Amino acid sequence: MKLLVSAGPTREFLDPVRFLSNRSTGRMGYAVAEAGVAAGDEVALVSGPVEIAPPAGLAALDRVVSARDMLAALEKRVEWCDALVMTAAVADFRPESAAADKIRKGEMPETIRLVRNPDILKTLAPRKGRRVFVGFAAETRDAAASAARKLAAKGLDLVVANDVTAPGAGFGVDTNVVTLVSPDAPPESFPIATKRDIAAMLVERVRKLLLRQTESSLA
Ligand code: C5P
Repeated sequence: MKLLVSAGPTREFLDPVRFLSNRSTGRMGYAVAEAGVAAGDEVALVSGPVEIAPPAGLAALDRVVSARDMLAALEKRVEWCDALVMTAAVADFRPESAAADKIRKGEMPETIRLVRNPDILKTLAPRKGRRVFVGFAAETRDAAASAARKLAAKGLDLVVANDVTAPGAGFGVDTNVVTLVSPDAPPESFPIATKRDIAAMLVERVRKLLLRQTESSLA
């Protein structure tokens, strides 16, 4: 399987030294990439700025900074892949403009105008074809219900929902608590597990979905 994985946060710069971002550390996405490599898949990883080392054996690694960079990198690779797993915590907004020079304290505006970033999954949806597209939903409440809405809105095959406030789940820890939400089955909740084990389970789930999609397109 040719697996395209996005991971980590994006940074949206206000000036050369200041940015908006989020708490994503890239651990879940890097675990998915590693699980793919371990299973013998070809894996391309598109990563926002993170502190952790990439897994060995990747077919490609693109390091990106902003949401728009991430979209551009994924647009270049999407035709290549059989499956896209978007674990990245893409910043939904960016400052309307980025100053070329550091904004001086006295010149800092009291309010910063934000504009919406492109939704990467929605932008790539027309190029999905028989590819498997998987999204993540990091929520602080009603994770499964919100994941079901995302599944429909973004036309995905699977959404991995997690409540980032649950103990042992979410940002910066090595474990996660996930629920898989798909169009044709009831939500499936898993007990707390390492991101590594969840990633291995997810890669096999993606493989099954791909097989099913390939078979149905041949039928
Ligand atoms: O809508 P929300 O941001 O919660 O959806 C999360 C999913 O959508 C994740 O898979 C994330 O990578 C993806 N996403 C995206 N483009 C954005 C924001 C999120 O593809 N601008």
